[in-house]
Amino acid sequence: MPVEFLIDEITPTSGFFVRCHTYTPQVKLAEWKLTVDGLVGKPLTLTMADLKKLPRTELVSVLECAGNGRSFYEPHLPGAQWKFGGVGNARWAGVRLRDVLQLAGLKPGATQLLLDGADVPLGKMPDFQRTIEVAKAQHPDTLLAWEMNGQPLTPEHGFPLRVVAPGWAGDSWVKWLQHIEVLDHDFDGFWMKTAYRHPSHPVAPGAAVDAKDMIPVTDLNVKSVIASPGDWVKPGLVSVQGVAWSNGSPVAKVEISDDAGKTWQSAKLGGGGTKYGFRRWACSWKAAEGQHALIARATDAAGRTQPMQEDWNPSGYLWNVAQPRNVLVSAVKPATAIAADSAGVAVPEAYKAACMTCHDDHMMRMQHLTRAQWEREMDKMTGWGAEVKAADRTAIVDYLASQFKP
Ligand code: HEC
Repeated sequence: MPVEFLIDEITPTSGFFVRCHTYTPQVKLAEWKLTVDGLVGKPLTLTMADLKKLPRTELVSVLECAGNGRSFYEPHLPGAQWKFGGVGNARWAGVRLRDVLQLAGLKPGATQLLLDGADVPLGKMPDFQRTIEVAKAQHPDTLLAWEMNGQPLTPEHGFPLRVVAPGWAGDSWVKWLQHIEVLDHDFDGFWMKTAYRHPSHPVAPGAAVDAKDMIPVTDLNVKSVIASPGDWVKPGLVSVQGVAWSNGSPVAKVEISDDAGKTWQSAKLGGGGTKYGFRRWACSWKAAEGQHALIARATDAAGRTQPMQEDWNPSGYLWNVAQPRNVLVSAVKPATAIAADSAGVAVPEAYKAACMTCHDDHMMRMQHLTRAQWEREMDKMTGWGAEVKAADRTAIVDYLASQFKP
């Protein structure tokens, strides 16, 4: 999503970021049901009409991808190369998850809910299934939603039903939800046990982290984004504007700096604001000719402030550094340079055959990985079903490591 969209309190659905690990399943409402089973007194099979008999609840909440900002981490990491746009704020409507659980009746010993959507894996990749703890599931703000911004969910946002886990990163907001299984143990599927984990304590950038020190990603960090001005503005008094959010603790303060954090100026916070939603802010800035790096830094009511330096983690989650945005102040708009393409380089046929079946070239173009990281991606992808002939492997890695390098 273009950063300019982060100026409104509610993000229009048409501009809202979309992220999933496979592709969007087209679910037919007439054939869809929600099954609730496992450690429950009464297993349920609910239609949308059944769900709508429960009390309707609405709330406004930020939805942010766990990997939003990943591209800023150093050393650089594989994955979707987000900068600022993997976040939006919407009004969600549906029912409380705890009302559904009450109908089913949790049995003693229930600890986790295994959530599964209608998306099916590609090749041999593991199915995208996530768990949330019973405590989060029972929280009155955790919803099963069928509406986003007053309209039925679009297929990309999880039609007909998705989890809304306010204050938590998007990986827990399972889309196309069709099955809830109540468990008495931690689930060890790939997307819980391996993916979406970060170290429980600070680690040195680039360090290997022991699996036992990796904990699931849950709460969002306090964060702010400068939506305006963009890359260029005319000299004079300029209104710097954007939004800020946290994990359910209200945003208490946003400050702006144009001198790398030596001095700060307080921004004016917008009125209203919701517990989990965006808080708008604005600040006047005397823009003098030249190249500037503007920084916004938010603090929430719990006293958490955006750091000035990264707290590195091996998968690049939850980036919330007070990130400088470059702004050129000049009377005349500069001409935009168009990045040169790597035209003229022959694309190996073996690469097309092995790698272009599940996703396109864009997946590679955004990565910028070292040769060692490409080797690991090759192992991961062959494990997920990419068919690479032994004789072709080196040529594919040569191509990737030379074309899509750091
Ligand atoms: C069987 C299907 C399949 C094939 C074939 C395949 N991939 Fe993938 N690849 C995936 C999926 C699924 C993802 C995760 C997509 C997502 O998270 O959005 C992925 C993600 C990636 C990523 C992003 C980083 C990551 O680990 O999530 C890279 C890089 C990548 N693939 C490289 C390759 C290369 C190189 C090849 C050829 C050797 C290849 N892929 C072939 C399914 C495949």
